Amino acid sequence: MILSLAPMEGITGHVFRWAHADCFSALDRYYTPFLAPPRVGKPFTNKGLREVDPASNEGLNVVPQLLTRSADEFVWAARLLADMGYAEVNLNLGCPSGTVVSKGKGSGFLRDLDGLEAFLADVCERSPLPVSVKTRLGLESPDEYERILELYCRMPLAELIVHPRVQRDGYDGKPRREFYGETLERVPFPVAYNGDVFSSEDMGELLAAYPGTRHVMLGRGVLMNPTLPREIAGGAPLAMEELSRFHDDLYAAYVAEMGGNAVFRMKEWWSYAKHSFADPAAVWRLIRKAKKAGDYEAAVVRVFRELA
Ligand SMILES: Cc1cc2nc3c(=O)[nH]c(=O)nc-3n(C[C@H](O)[C@H](O)[C@H](O)COP(=O)(O)O)c2cc1C
Repeated sequence: MILSLAPMEGITGHVFRWAHADCFSALDRYYTPFLAPPRVGKPFTNKGLREVDPASNEGLNVVPQLLTRSADEFVWAARLLADMGYAEVNLNLGCPSGTVVSKGKGSGFLRDLDGLEAFLADVCERSPLPVSVKTRLGLESPDEYERILELYCRMPLAELIVHPRVQRDGYDGKPRREFYGETLERVPFPVAYNGDVFSSEDMGELLAAYPGTRHVMLGRGVLMNPTLPREIAGGAPLAMEELSRFHDDLYAAYVAEMGGNAVFRMKEWWSYAKHSFADPAAVWRLIRKAKKAGDYEAAVVRVFRELA
């Protein structure tokens, strides 16, 4: 069974991947949060470069994810990534954000199936790296998925990762797992499942329903409980000292990367990590108000002293 970490823009970038792998064991695979490919002929720069720089990902199995509807830019980025030593490139067809969808990218690309078919046929032919896709079921209704799935079946994809919600769902409601089951039965290439696996019980239910599962991508579950992959493998539950050490490593790494902005990054993490505590609302009350590093650090001391 392959366990991977989901791409989560603003959270599971290279700093998080490293801190997590350093404190716990590395997952089998990681996906970068979505990156816009550089213009053809230009290199990756700034944030994109920091994310894909091989030095940022040494020792980890990382698949870069691209968000684009330009085949030329996708292929160009795949060439750069191949030169850096990556073995696969992933296309984001799931992002539900309004600004992304309105540009016809992410799940917005699922509205234009003729355009998507031409794009995928072209990039699969020209990309020097195998191309995998992370998809939703459609925009408005899962009825859209039949045509989308037929399209994927015609493409030589390296893998299809299914988050079985539509764009309109956001992250609400239950994932429509039956569509993952159908995908498993029908596509001629490997399939991965993603969505709402928050505990080893959730994983058990998924595997009981779909025993053919070979790859599960974990997202918010790892943010809420960093030892979820270990627990799924039958290991010990999270100890508060582990969470405290992980927090300190993650915070120190963000401070080194971005100085004072580290507090904002950490607050985003706490919006999930608070669920490792008996009283998440009390944790959030302490963390939420902190703006400066000193206030934040004092709040964290109180959280672990008073609420752990
Ligand atoms: C804050 C946030 C950022 C995300 N960023 C990305 C992204 O960059 N690329 C992507 O394919 N999915 C992104 N996702 C979706 C996740 O990869 C995943 O599909 C989703 O969280 C459902 O899985 P989970 O229930 O295990 O969390 C993001 C989700 C969240 C909550």
